[in-house]
Amino acid sequence: MKTKMVKIDESSIDFHVIEHAGEILRAGGLVAFPTETVYGLGADALNATAAGRIYQAKGRPSDNPLIVHIHSMGQLEKITAHVPQKARLLADAFWPGPLTMIFPKNGLVPYETTGGLDTVAVRMPKNKIALALIKAGGGYIAAPSANASGRPSPTLAMHVYEDMQGKIPLILDGGEVKVGLESTIVDFTEPVPLILRPGFLTLEKIRSVIGDAALDPGVIKAGSEKRPKAPGMKYRHYAPKADLVIVEGEFSIVAAKIRELTKKSVAEGKKVGVIATRETIGYYEQGLVLSIGERQEEETIAHNLYKILRQFDESDVDIIYSESFQALPMGEAIMNRLWKAAGHQVIKAK
Ligand code: TXA
Ligand code: MG
Repeated sequence: MKTKMVKIDESSIDFHVIEHAGEILRAGGLVAFPTETVYGLGADALNATAAGRIYQAKGRPSDNPLIVHIHSMGQLEKITAHVPQKARLLADAFWPGPLTMIFPKNGLVPYETTGGLDTVAVRMPKNKIALALIKAGGGYIAAPSANASGRPSPTLAMHVYEDMQGKIPLILDGGEVKVGLESTIVDFTEPVPLILRPGFLTLEKIRSVIGDAALDPGVIKAGSEKRPKAPGMKYRHYAPKADLVIVEGEFSIVAAKIRELTKKSVAEGKKVGVIATRETIGYYEQGLVLSIGERQEEETIAHNLYKILRQFDESDVDIIYSESFQALPMGEAIMNRLWKAAGHQVIKAK
C-alpha cells in the first residue's frame, strides 16, 4: 500500500481533504492525523474490523485498549453506560483538550476497540483538523498514538511516515503538534477518580476541579511492585538503541555528575549523548549534547521529549545520559516516559 502524506493547515482547513479522509474512515480504513498531544492513528471506533486494523498496523498487543475520540459533548452518552457528575465537570473544564476519561461502555462499542474490557476511554481533542476529521469519519474515532508499537509517540507527520509507511493509505500532515505528550487518563469507574497515565494535564489541575483524585500506584516510579491498571502502561513502551541512563539528584550536582560520566565513557571509546536543558547546555563539553527545553517553561520539555529520543536513535551514540525533571509540576508525566525509555536505569548524583 502506498502511503500518501497530505499537508493541511489548521487555520484554514481544506475540507476536500477532510472529506476524502472521512470517506476512508467510514469505509473501515486508517488515517493518521494530528491532535494537540501527539499524532493519532484513526479508525472507526464502532467498527470491529476497522479497529482490528489499528492493532495490525501498529503491531500492538490486542489486549491494549484504544481511546475513542469524539467532537461534541452530546456524543458521550451514546457510547457509555454511566457518566458521573464529576466527569462532566472535568469535561467542562478541559475538553476539548489533553484529557481522557474512562467509563463503563455500552453495547455500541465493540470489544475490539476496548481490548476486551467493559470500559471505554473517551477524549475530545483540541485540534481543529482532528475535530473535523472525527465528524467526517462518522463521529467516533479510535486512535492510539500513531507510532509503531515500542517506538516514541509521533509529534511530526514525518515520524508517523517513518513508522507507518506502506501500512496505511493516508497521513494528514498538520505540522508539529503543540503539546508533545499524551493526554492524562482519569478512570471514573473507581470509587476515587484514578489517574492511570500522568499527562500534560497535571494532578493539581484535576484536583482543583473535582477535589479528590489519586495517581495509580502502578505508574509511580521504578521497580513499583504494583501492576498499572491501564494495560498500555505495563509495556516498556520505548527502548532507545543506545543505553539511556537518568541522573537524579539535586539540580546543581546532576550536571557535574553527567560531565564526569561523559568523560569516563568517552575515555572508554564510547560515543555519548547528553539530554541537557537550555539552562545547562553550555556546561557540557563532550558528546552530542541536545537541549530538551527550558526548566523555567516545562511545556517545552514535554514538547521535545519524543522528538529528542528519535533524534538520538538516528545518531550513532552508544550511551545517553539524561538530566531528570521530577521537581516540575509535569514531572510525573515526563519522568514516567523517560524512566520507561531508560528501562529504569537511574544513577543518583551525590
Ligand atoms: O493523547 C493521547 O491520548 C493520544 C492521542 C492520539 O489522542 N492517544 C494515545 O493513545 O496516547 P494510546 O493508545 O497510545 O494510549 C492509550 C492508553 C493505553 O495505555 C491504554 O492501555 C489506555 O490508554 N486505555 C485505553 N482504554 C482503556 C480502558 N478502557 N481502561 C484502561 N486503560 C485504557
Ligand atoms: Mg501510545
